[in-house]
Amino acid sequence: MRTLRDIPALRHALAEYRQRGQRIALAPTMGNLHAGHLALIENARQHGDVVVSSLFVNPMQFGPNEDLDAYPRTFEADQQALEAAGCDVLFAPISETLYPNGTKQQTYVHVPSVSEGLCGSSRPGHFDGVSTVVTMLFNLVQPDIALFGEKDYQQLAVIRKMVADLHMPIEIIGVPIVRADDGLALSSRNGYLSAENRAKAPALYKTLCDMRQALEAGGVEFSAHDHDYRQQVLQQGRQALYDAGFELDYLELRDRTLGPVEPNTRQAILLAAARLGDTRLIDNLDVLLP
Ligand code: PAJ
Repeated sequence: MRTLRDIPALRHALAEYRQRGQRIALAPTMGNLHAGHLALIENARQHGDVVVSSLFVNPMQFGPNEDLDAYPRTFEADQQALEAAGCDVLFAPISETLYPNGTKQQTYVHVPSVSEGLCGSSRPGHFDGVSTVVTMLFNLVQPDIALFGEKDYQQLAVIRKMVADLHMPIEIIGVPIVRADDGLALSSRNGYLSAENRAKAPALYKTLCDMRQALEAGGVEFSAHDHDYRQQVLQQGRQALYDAGFELDYLELRDRTLGPVEPNTRQAILLAAARLGDTRLIDNLDVLLP
């Protein structure tokens, strides 16, 4: 695996692959890699001839009171994990390479609607930072395929919309959530959890599973009162998370494009963000409404 830090070296390396007609698959990350990230690399190997990953803790997507400085940085271990997983090229720029004039006067990409609500409400500006840096990475790498985890479901939806609206010639692939044995979705932020809160954390996934079961069963008995019944299940889920020690950011049921659930919606998704102490966890689960 080649590790490249600057733009000319990256462009030069990728031009060679492109000239040979090889398909480039890109998996962007912020490092501190775990099995969830490595699933992206595995998928990239299946879909592309050349696997490129990026490792960049993007300052533009962190709010002023968020964990930019504390974000775990484990470069050597990440490099080894990527190499072992079959990554061909790692692009790991420093901040000044992507933002030579800082982030304040930066041209940015804003994806309306889908970036609002959910994490967009609790993290203002976050998705502008994500869509802007992902656009930069797309322009630098010019991948044929790019992979993103379904764990960050709204992020994936924002990127799909951006790619469609701006006619970016890139196929976006969503990769299913990789979980710990107890169900907790793997995340670089799980390392912030105290032992006590780590033990509580699987309740987030368990609550979503219980809600899915209730929602999928509900139509039979409650078809005349679907809306009320769903509101009741959401309320019970919020209470269950509160009882388990979470401070809730949101718990919502949406359609798979993150639009509102309509009477004829079947393919839905439960999305949650909740805090345990200072650690913010997100998760989601697809639901087939009756
Ligand atoms: P990061 O949080 O490092 O995640 C990189 C990619 O790994 C994202 O596409 C994310 O959805 C995916 N991922 C993380 N945990 C996962 C899990 N448990 N299962 C499956 N996929 C998982 O997301 C970002 O970085 C940044 O916003 C980025 C897209 C790199 C832009 O800066």
